[in-house]
Amino acid sequence: MTTPLLVLGSANADLVVEVGRRPAGGETVLGGDTVVLPGGKGANTAVAAAKVGASVALVGAVGDDGYGALLRESLESSGVGTSLVKTSARPTGIAYITVTPDGENSIVVSPGANADVSPSDVDGLSFAGVRVLACSLEVPLETVVHAIDVAAQAGVRTVLNLSPVAELPPSTLAGLSVLVVNEHEAAQLASEWSGLLALGPESAIVTLGSRGAAVVRESGVVEVPAVEVAEVVDTTGAGDAFAGALSARLAEGDDLVEAARYAAKVAALSVTKAGAQPSYPTAAEVG
Ligand code: RIB
Ligand code: NA
Repeated sequence: MTTPLLVLGSANADLVVEVGRRPAGGETVLGGDTVVLPGGKGANTAVAAAKVGASVALVGAVGDDGYGALLRESLESSGVGTSLVKTSARPTGIAYITVTPDGENSIVVSPGANADVSPSDVDGLSFAGVRVLACSLEVPLETVVHAIDVAAQAGVRTVLNLSPVAELPPSTLAGLSVLVVNEHEAAQLASEWSGLLALGPESAIVTLGSRGAAVVRESGVVEVPAVEVAEVVDTTGAGDAFAGALSARLAEGDDLVEAARYAAKVAALSVTKAGAQPSYPTAAEVG
């Protein structure tokens, strides 16, 4: 099956607990009841794209367990193609997430099945009819590098959410269409935003949370304004919502600034509800 948008990345069960504050080393704090939600940067990106109307498939892996079933169900009910999500012998990835009253989160990820997404899975893909490949980094780096290289060679536009920051070969970065990073990641990579282009990508987007995003191209930086929201409930997966909506619009042929403007709205709406995938808006809700 081919879709105009392919997402390569992780699928995790998010085990979320609300805490008054984060424990320090050696300390115990009591939190609320654990809530289990479908997450993972790859699955989140694919669901965000599907919810705003993209025809999209996820390339990834889950385990043969209840969390794997939860993820397949969330992907399928959102309209994401799952024929390229394999079932691994390892357990489904889990993200242990604490959320504080300000809506901020801290996450520990246990990759599990995501570690089995391999370069040979990429070799099995057909890029015919694919316009955009969107990747994130909770699957092995060598797989992401191989996918970007192969896609770029096939003339497919490539979007990489470089979170967490990792070192990619210069030739891979040179084949990248859009590098997406948040402010902290941008600062780790370059002293100025324009310096991100020196790493090789055709363009870069720096997401600025409640302040919107900046689109960085040879022609200059365009700031995309923030969309104000009444209340921040949970920022988990807001960056993935941005990447998914951006990739969806790029696959539709939007220009990068237009796509980023739309993605900023989707990300803003996502923080007003709990969780990642369950909080993503539909095209009608984005307006
Ligand atoms: O980006 C948010 C995601 O990071 C969560 O859904 C969690 O699974 C971790 O992968
Ligand atoms: Na949310």
